[in-house]
Amino acid sequence: MRELVAETRLHVSDLVAPLFVREGISEPQPIASLPGVVQHTVDSLVAEVNGLRDLGVKAVILFGVPATKDAEGSGAWDPNGIAQVALRALRASVGDDMVIMADLCVDEYTSHGHCGIVGSDGEVDNDATLEIYCRAAIAQATAGAHVVAPSGMMDGQVGAIRAALDDAGFENVAIMAYSAKYASALYGPFRDAVDVQIAGGGHRKGYQQDWRNARESMREVFEDIEQGADIVMVKPALSYLDVIGQVRASVDTPVAAYHVSGEYSMIKAAAANGWIDHDAVALEHLTSIKRAGADIILTYLTRWFAEYSAQ
Ligand code: PBG
Repeated sequence: MRELVAETRLHVSDLVAPLFVREGISEPQPIASLPGVVQHTVDSLVAEVNGLRDLGVKAVILFGVPATKDAEGSGAWDPNGIAQVALRALRASVGDDMVIMADLCVDEYTSHGHCGIVGSDGEVDNDATLEIYCRAAIAQATAGAHVVAPSGMMDGQVGAIRAALDDAGFENVAIMAYSAKYASALYGPFRDAVDVQIAGGGHRKGYQQDWRNARESMREVFEDIEQGADIVMVKPALSYLDVIGQVRASVDTPVAAYHVSGEYSMIKAAAANGWIDHDAVALEHLTSIKRAGADIILTYLTRWFAEYSAQ
């Protein structure tokens, strides 16, 4: 009876697997603070994505970890940058069987770890950064991304990227916007995964949102839709279920939520200590994010759920 009347059902096709590919390694590297997640080689990435497809997963989102960084993050738009190399290999292998998304930011590629160009005053220069995001969008689309996902929280990024993609003939490449993205302490393990240390105070409060505020999220979401976002995202997920619910009630576009690295690692750490039941908590958390209104959930638990639900 409970099964019959349940309001919310989690399905493997709701989930997107975030994956890391690192330049210059010959074996996948474990990430200590993200147990079970690795930095892939291009070959192991392709194998993992084929395995996820066989499990029924419909989408992945790719993050590149370059061997060298510079002030502008030029690896983000270099046709031979690691993400572009990996996107070409993925698209050649899985074609259109899966949705291949590319995280669009420069923080993995910049020597200072910020999501944009840092001006002489030490602040990120919003408008100069838009120009390099457009280059990265075109490089990712050229390499085969079906979706680009700008995560840098620069004002006007969605409109600028949409125009650049259209001008280059990529009208069919979609934009999933990280719209309401908070300056959260829950991204710590991710920064280990992409080898990022943030210069100048070690935070992104100048461009990511203050977690005391919810109203600003609606402005960010509406602006992104106005500028051409196809999917809007709230990030992180569990501390922001109110925001997810509000967004879902106010817009017609698909809504995504990112169950981020720290949310995943907390489950893994507590379960490893025997303090919580991993599968039960993982299921409760992901289902709650869907119940709050997310149509799409980006989560490092994607492979686990695909295997678990296939049993
Ligand atoms: C920025 C980006 C971040 C995450 C995704 N894209 C980190 C940040 O804003 O510092 C975090 C994802 C996670 O914690 O799982 N390119």
